[in-house]
Amino acid sequence: MIDIEDIISIAKEAAPLMSREGFSVEEKGTVENIVTTSDIAVQDFLTDRLSKLLPGSGFLCEEEDVADLGHEYVWIIDPIDGTANYARGNANCCISIALVKNWRPVAGVVYSPWRGELYSAQAGQGAFCNGRPIHVSGRPFKEGILFTAMSTYRKEFAKTCSGIIYDIYMDSNDFRRTGSAAVELCLMAAGMAELYFEMRLMPWDYAAASLILCEAGGAICDFDGKAPSLTRPSLIIAANNGENCRRILDIVHCHMDRIPY
Ligand code: IPD
Ligand code: CA
Ligand code: CA
Repeated sequence: MIDIEDIISIAKEAAPLMSREGFSVEEKGTVENIVTTSDIAVQDFLTDRLSKLLPGSGFLCEEEDVADLGHEYVWIIDPIDGTANYARGNANCCISIALVKNWRPVAGVVYSPWRGELYSAQAGQGAFCNGRPIHVSGRPFKEGILFTAMSTYRKEFAKTCSGIIYDIYMDSNDFRRTGSAAVELCLMAAGMAELYFEMRLMPWDYAAASLILCEAGGAICDFDGKAPSLTRPSLIIAANNGENCRRILDIVHCHMDRIPY
């Protein structure tokens, strides 16, 4: 049995590897999509420590094509979510670690050291920020704040995204873009926003934060209204409750009859 405090300790030990300076930056195909030497250092540290914590477990990690999936337990890791922010000294970046057992999420830790926030959840045991219980807000759609993005790494989807965002915006309060999906989903879990839409995210972007959001009372789904895949890219809709989630889904379906990837 895994103790979430051990995962939290390892995330905290990894955080100094997100150094303020002295890292180098490389592009991964496009100018928007970058990796820093810190991303690699954090990921190497986490895979080393977590494999010792849970011998025989597998890994799905963003960097360096780590996908060792044929295990009862698999760690899904984004070493730094919000790398473009990290590289600019913007605090909206985090380490994201999820543990799945037979592909069901059992634990999630999202640590944003520069924001001073550590979010955690275990299946069936509620969600926490810095050890204090958190819960989604009760705000209705029309008062909702939307976290979203314009499909940064696949700009061919930006026009469709803008139409969806426009329709949600006109029925709600406002929108925000912080540049870290994991931070945004955790802020929703803590009641600071109500609505979420992204055209295409990878499992490491949302695996940990989706458990934290659900444990805080929120809802998350893909284009088909089902739980998002933990192995493939997914369109992600989330909200502070199932009703608001379905309303975003209806808007998305007005703009698309299938996933364009
Ligand atoms: C990105 C962030 C961003 C989201 C992108 C992600 P990265 O992750 O979560 O908010 O809009 O789709 O890929 O590349 O900084 O790890
Ligand atoms: Ca990410
Ligand atoms: Ca990343």
